[in-house]
Amino acid sequence: MHKITRAVIPAAGWGTRWLPATHRVPKELMPLMDAPIIQWVVEEALDSGLTDVALVIAPQKKQVLEHFVLNTDLDGFLRAHGKADWLEGLKQLLGRVRVTAVLQTEARGLGHAIGCAREWVSGEACAVLLPDEVVLRTPSQRPCTSQLVELFLKHGKSVIALMKMPEQELHKYGVASVSSTSQSGLWNVAEVVEKPKSAPPSLLALPGRYVFTHEVFEHLKKIEPQENREIQLTDALTTLGKQNRLLGTEFEGHRFDAGDRMGWIEANVWLAMQQPEYQTELRRRITPWLA
Ligand code: G1P
Repeated sequence: MHKITRAVIPAAGWGTRWLPATHRVPKELMPLMDAPIIQWVVEEALDSGLTDVALVIAPQKKQVLEHFVLNTDLDGFLRAHGKADWLEGLKQLLGRVRVTAVLQTEARGLGHAIGCAREWVSGEACAVLLPDEVVLRTPSQRPCTSQLVELFLKHGKSVIALMKMPEQELHKYGVASVSSTSQSGLWNVAEVVEKPKSAPPSLLALPGRYVFTHEVFEHLKKIEPQENREIQLTDALTTLGKQNRLLGTEFEGHRFDAGDRMGWIEANVWLAMQQPEYQTELRRRITPWLA
C-alpha cells in the first residue's frame, strides 16, 4: 500500500449553527485558544504525516484559504517592532504544508463536497477531516488521523474513526453497523446509517475522520442524489462496507464538536487545562462560580 500524503477538508458550509458569529467570519476561523479551528485540524493532518491539504470551500469563504498564506504586511510590521517571533509558529506550519482551495459552488452535501476534490486527489488514497470536529490529544497520544493511516497501510482498506456515544446523541451522526475483528476496538463496518431517527445499528458514531482508498470516489459518482440534490458520504461508506472494504476504529484522543457552542467551550477549557500557566489561574477564577 502506498504512502498517503493528501487530506481533504470540506469547509464550504455557511455555519448557521454559529450565527451571528458567522455572519462574516467563517466558522472554521473561529479561535480555539490561540489558533483558528481550521489550523488545529490542518495540524492534525500534518502531525499524521500528510503534507498536501485541499480545502473545499464555497466562493464566499476565501478567507479560510488566506489563513494559510503569510500576511507579509503584518509580518513586516512585526519585524519592524521587534516582534518577528510572534508569527513564528504559523510560519513553521506554512513551511510544512501545501494548501490548495477546491471550489464547491453549490451546497449539495458532504459526499458532493468530497467528490469536488476528486481531480486533486488524482487516483491516490486520501484522508478526510471534518473541521467542525477537533480531536485534541495529550503529548503521549497520537493524532487521530495518524491512527487511521496506520490501519489503512496495514490492511489496504478504507478506515473510519468510530466513537461510542450515548444513544440520545446518535441522531446527529452517521452510525455504523459493525462486526468484530480479531483486534479489540477494530471493527468491520457493513453499513453506515446517517442520523438514525430510531433503532440505531450500534452506539458507534462517526466523528468526522476518514482515510479512503480511491474507491470512494467511484462510489460517490454513482450515488443517487436525494430529493434536495444532496449526495451523502454515508451512502458511499455503505457501498464500501457491503464490499467488505471498510474498517472502523475506536481511536484514542479527546474529541470535541467545535461546531456546537457547548463543545467549543469545552474544547477551549480542555486546552487551557493542559497548560500549567492557564490551569492554576483558570481553576482559581471559575471555582467560585461553581459553588
Ligand atoms: C456529518 C456526517 C455524519 C458525521 C458528522 C460528524 O454530519 O454526515 O455522518 O457523523 O458529520 O460531525 P453533519 O454534522 O455535517 O450534519
